[in-house]
Amino acid sequence: MSESLRVTVLASGSGTNLQALIDRLHLSSDSRVSIARVIGSRPGIGALERAARFDIPTGVQPSGEAGQPWLAEALSGPDADLIVLAGWLKLIPEAVVRACRGRMINIHPALLPSFGGSGMYGRRVHEAVVASGTRVSGATIHFVDEIYDHGAIIAQWPVPVLEEDDPETLAARVLAVEHRLLPAVVQAFADEKFALSESGRVVWAHPWFPADMFTMQAQVKPD
Ligand code: GRF
Repeated sequence: MSESLRVTVLASGSGTNLQALIDRLHLSSDSRVSIARVIGSRPGIGALERAARFDIPTGVQPSGEAGQPWLAEALSGPDADLIVLAGWLKLIPEAVVRACRGRMINIHPALLPSFGGSGMYGRRVHEAVVASGTRVSGATIHFVDEIYDHGAIIAQWPVPVLEEDDPETLAARVLAVEHRLLPAVVQAFADEKFALSESGRVVWAHPWFPADMFTMQAQVKPD
């Protein structure tokens, strides 16, 4: 694509994934991706502070009845070629999800379809993974549909669950790969390397991504 991809990021927390997008794409002269706007679920969160530091326009979804039309309006404008839910904890109304079909993605800190769904966010995800005894976790990026953590999977990146892990050590290992995977997927979307088909499947234009992902994986060390 010739024009830049304008991305709106929705966040409820500290915004380290937003920071990864800023560092690797927004500030990079090689990438035609700009973070056009950051929307917070409440004022004062770290993600909004990070955006302000880089002069990225911000907004806060109003609470109550005004929230849905405000969000629908914000996500229908020119700043939302792609919408990234990067630690967004509020429900996206179904009408907004439908209007944003194929251009709204979410990052989840486990390997979906396991350890996802309503109530599975933040520390709870890693607690459940550690308690289950599974030996592999990771990060998943998927298109958003009307069901929590359910839409078509775009990319995943596994990490080991170690014998001595607690939810914090596992969260740090997963977060380190989230920070690599999310910019890679957003760049791939900007380059039109994948899209959501009419039937709800992810279709790749070139079979490049898995190989690229494993190359990156070999380079990453947990924080
Ligand atoms: C990440 O683990 C993401 O996968 C989840 O929420 C967390 C957000 O972290 N959806 P941050 O605000 O980007 O630091």
